[in-house]
Amino acid sequence: MNQDELKKQVAEAALDYVEAGTVIGVGTGSTANHFIDGLARVKGRIEGTVASSNASAERLRGHGIPVLDLNAVDEISVYIDGADETTRHLHLIKGGGGALTREKIVAAASRRFVCICDQSKLVDRLGAFPLPIEVIPMARSLVARELVKRGGRPVLREGFVTDNGNEILDIHGLDIMDPVALEDELNNLPGVVTVGIFAIRPADILLLGTPNGVETLS
Ligand code: 5RP
Repeated sequence: MNQDELKKQVAEAALDYVEAGTVIGVGTGSTANHFIDGLARVKGRIEGTVASSNASAERLRGHGIPVLDLNAVDEISVYIDGADETTRHLHLIKGGGGALTREKIVAAASRRFVCICDQSKLVDRLGAFPLPIEVIPMARSLVARELVKRGGRPVLREGFVTDNGNEILDIHGLDIMDPVALEDELNNLPGVVTVGIFAIRPADILLLGTPNGVETLS
């Protein structure tokens, strides 16, 4: 099985977590896209979705799946999304697709967060994947200097503007020993909108696609 087939396998497995008659949070990226395509087959069973990006909202609507404004929704039963890295503690790095802010919001608004990954995303320690940080454009250099002080090498994601009109710094070379503490610390830097560490609110369930089937961690 190639990586895309593993992503599709794990996205299909996530359909078992879709609760009938509820609103579902839907993530962003190629794994989430497979989930959206599968969700189309059972769309009559759900009330609607909240999307974590304009791209996912467009794909959902393309399948005739209702996309709701989070402000109009009381509860999201489950959030299904991929990740760039995950540990066995279900701490994640997200934001490779640049949608980390809305992803963090939808995850926070959801009763359960089911993360769907192929096995290549599983690591012992976060940080080999450059950590995305969404920043207010005027604070880009200020935040970058703070990350250099912490041993990182910030690289501006050239030509990329988030759905919220901001920029992304990708921080290379960080060895993330304590994801909860680093997320908390970086959240407090002026100009930081969202840090791509999802550890303060980790995933609740990890579905991992392997050639031997889907492994479930919680
Ligand atoms: C987007 C994300 C994605 O979940 C992450 O980049 C994984 O993407 P893919 O499923 O394409 O491997 O955080 O901001």
